Amino acid sequence: MKQVADPLVKKGMLPKHVAIIMDGNGRWAGTHGLPRLAGHRAGIDAIARCLSAATQHGVAYLTLYAFSSENWLRNPQEVAELTELLRYYLKNKVQELHNAGVQVRFIGELTRFDGDLRKNLTEVEDLTAQNNRIVLLLALSYGGRGDIVQAARRLACASQNGMINPDQMTESDFAAHLWTAGVPDPDVIVRTGGEYRLSNFLLWQSAYAELVFLDVFWPDFNEKHFSIVLDLYAQRERRFGVRPVASV
Ligand code: IPE
Ligand code: IPE
Ligand code: MG
Repeated sequence: MKQVADPLVKKGMLPKHVAIIMDGNGRWAGTHGLPRLAGHRAGIDAIARCLSAATQHGVAYLTLYAFSSENWLRNPQEVAELTELLRYYLKNKVQELHNAGVQVRFIGELTRFDGDLRKNLTEVEDLTAQNNRIVLLLALSYGGRGDIVQAARRLACASQNGMINPDQMTESDFAAHLWTAGVPDPDVIVRTGGEYRLSNFLLWQSAYAELVFLDVFWPDFNEKHFSIVLDLYAQRERRFGVRPVASV
C-alpha cells in the first residue's frame, strides 16, 4: 500500500533505501543554552518528522544511526541518559510506529544492552514484523567494523563445520551474514550536523551510496530537509564504475 504520487517514483529516481547519521544533538542544545540531553530529546521529534516524510514519499527502507559502538565511551552520565531515552522511545512511540505500518528492525551489537532492554527490542521487532509500509532500521550500539567482524566470525564457524566452502564464498554470502541481511544497500547516506565523515556507519553497505551532508543540527531536521535529500539524489548520476549508457 505504498504511495506513488511522488514524481520521483515515476522517474525511477527515488532512493529505495535512505540511511541517516543523525548528528548534532549536543551542539543544538549548546546553541539553545540547554544540556545535551535536551538535544537528544529534541532529536526524537526529528525522527518522527523524518519517518513521516520517508513514508509519504514511498521510501522503502530508512536506516537511522542512533548510537555508535564508540558512543559507549562517552561520559557515563550521557550514556545512561541515552539508554533511558531509548527505553522511553520503545515504551511510548512503538504503538504509533505500529499503527503507521512501520516494520522496525534493530542492527548493532545489541548484547551490550541490559536484559530488559534487549527484551523490549525483541518485542518491538516481533510486534511490527508483518508491517509493510516502510522498514525502519535503527542502528544501536552499531559499528560498521564490528558488523564486518561478526559476519567474518560466523562465516569462519560455518566453514569449520563444513557448512560452506571458503573457496566458493561470494560477496552475497558475506552480505547475508551482516546485520543488514536481506536489506538492499543504501542508495544515499545523509549526515546532518556539518561533519564530513561516516564515523563507522555502514562501511560495507556504503560502497556505492551517494553521500549528502546537510548543515543542519539533527533536532532541526524536518520534512523540507528530507525533500532536499531526494532532490539532490535525483540529480546524481550513479555509474557503479561503468560508463553511462548514453555516453560515447
Ligand atoms: C548525535 O548527536 C547523537 C549521538 C551520537 C548519540 P551528538 O551527541 O553527537 O551531538 P554533537 O555532534 O556533539 O553535536
Ligand atoms: C556518529 O556521531 C554517531 C551517531 C550519530 C549515532 P558522533 O558524534 O558519534 O561521531 P563523531 O564522534 O563526530 O565522529
Ligand atoms: Mg556528534
